[in-house]
Amino acid sequence: MKEKKVLLTERTHFCGDLGLSDVGREVKVYGWVHRRRDHGGVIFLDLRDRTGLIQLVVDREENPEEFIKAEKIRPEYVLEVEGLVRKRPAGTENPNLPTGEVEVKIKKLTVLSVSKTPPFEIEDDINVEESVRLKYRYLDLRRPSMIGNLILRHRITSEIRDYLNRYQFIEVETPYLTKSTPEGARDYLVPARLNPGRFYALAQSPQLFKQILMVAGVERYYQFARCFRDEDLRRDRQPEHTQVDIEMSFVSKEDIFELVEGLMERAFTVSGYRIKVPFKRLTYEEAMLRYGTDKPDLRYGLEISDLTEIFTESDFRVFRDVVALGGCVRGLKAEASFSRSQLDEITEWAKGQGARGLVWLVQEDEIKSPVAKFFSEIEKEELKKRLDFRRGQTVFLMAGRETEVAELMGLLRAKLADELGLIRTDEYQLIWVTDFPLFGYDEETKTYFSFHHPFTRPTIETVSLLDRDPLKVKAEAYDLVVNGVEVAGGSLRIYQPEVQKKVFSLLGLSNEEAQRKFGFLLEAFEYGVPPHGGIAIGLDRLVMILAGRKTIRDVIAFPKTQSAYCPLTGAPDEVDDEQLKELHLKKR
Ligand code: AMO
Repeated sequence: MKEKKVLLTERTHFCGDLGLSDVGREVKVYGWVHRRRDHGGVIFLDLRDRTGLIQLVVDREENPEEFIKAEKIRPEYVLEVEGLVRKRPAGTENPNLPTGEVEVKIKKLTVLSVSKTPPFEIEDDINVEESVRLKYRYLDLRRPSMIGNLILRHRITSEIRDYLNRYQFIEVETPYLTKSTPEGARDYLVPARLNPGRFYALAQSPQLFKQILMVAGVERYYQFARCFRDEDLRRDRQPEHTQVDIEMSFVSKEDIFELVEGLMERAFTVSGYRIKVPFKRLTYEEAMLRYGTDKPDLRYGLEISDLTEIFTESDFRVFRDVVALGGCVRGLKAEASFSRSQLDEITEWAKGQGARGLVWLVQEDEIKSPVAKFFSEIEKEELKKRLDFRRGQTVFLMAGRETEVAELMGLLRAKLADELGLIRTDEYQLIWVTDFPLFGYDEETKTYFSFHHPFTRPTIETVSLLDRDPLKVKAEAYDLVVNGVEVAGGSLRIYQPEVQKKVFSLLGLSNEEAQRKFGFLLEAFEYGVPPHGGIAIGLDRLVMILAGRKTIRDVIAFPKTQSAYCPLTGAPDEVDDEQLKELHLKKR
């Protein structure tokens, strides 16, 4: 395809697009030199652009002038090349290269710019420290898989925009420089030069603005919003991430599920995958019980069972005492046998994670375990029945406080799946996790906290428990989990002032504090607030999954390291005293 003149080049083709149908054509290509090979009187150059590689060839006899130029060319030089496409001689085709059946015989070669020797090869399979890759990100991004990630990201965002536009959503931008928003992470603060002593907070999300847009009658809003959160970083967390932020008025949870399911279908299709809708649903309670996490990975089984009932009267005191104190006993069956040293290692690992102990049982002619002698025949029979416990299998049991045991068993489940190679890596498991509690309780500070954020609506069925038993109140909140990663989260919002007041007071926010922090939202709600709800999709995480990468850093053009540092620019940087003075700040 010839590019439109508007691009101001004479480029006739992208390198990766050339093929047999172009044989005999005069072409002009541009790109970077990937490799140079000298074969006596013939030089081969692989030229790379965004689309791929094409082999160029120049012969000393036929074209001595260009041959001399080619001799001086080094990797990553930038070239303009005019030449003739021809079929490669039989036996020299490269089946590993999409353009491997053809080559371009150089007529004229121009070096547009030269390059130093790069610190690493521009190849997909390289073993280079990430900090070096990030420092030379422009070279890192020349690698086909990396530019491929950016292209995939672009295609996914275009598809999502198109999808939402079709459903009458409008894209509205909200401020980044704002007041603290209620997502619960630390804020990035920006000193306000024109308002001495005051600070903006960079938005942790557009949450409050999107709710105000609903009061404003926008009805269906979306935004590709950058969100800033000063939290500890992991492979799926960055100090700034992008959300596909969505809010709608006059909707039910089901409407939002259907909208997002359609959106995901499109995002997966454009990435070359088919998924089934509607997605499975799990309540928070079920997820915590069966998988020990609210982000379960359903690409493998290893479900956890509650076995508390079996041990209420047990001779095994550890279990009986835990049960008497209101704790639980949970079990997990692996369809595998382990050596004694492996079992010891797993037990030590569990202790290292904070477990008080881990009991293992194996099934041979009878149940064997260091504690088997304390189990009655009835208990053993029950275990067999409940877990379908058979020969060659191993059961792990843990007792303790419900929240702790759930989490530890979840970690054990993940560890075993990994070690036993049970994860079906070619599968996508998308699930809605619903019915979250509205509040959690911090034992240390003896205070309630919002599971999502303070604007999340309690369910009609449980709202009356706000006064009596706040921890039993369920939220109209939902997360979308893909292969064990939380990809999206949202909720229906509170729009009744009396409910909002109660929630604030349970969170220990006085009227004055609530007014100071969120007064502008509460005031807006006094002018006709429609019932509304929404969701935010973590775009980086979604693209990471669809690109088959392990970290979101691979799908962000210029990410930061785990210590929130940018090796390319050196940010964050020191500033001079003059600048600080202007901002009314002093270094301590
Ligand atoms: P939440 O805080 O759950 O909800 O964020 C929504 C989604 O954003 C992604 N995400 C992140 N991705 C990368 N790095 C981070 N540091 C990071 N933090 C969050 C996750 C997450 O599911 N205002 C609400 C949404 C709503 O209620 O509509 C919110 O921000 O994929």
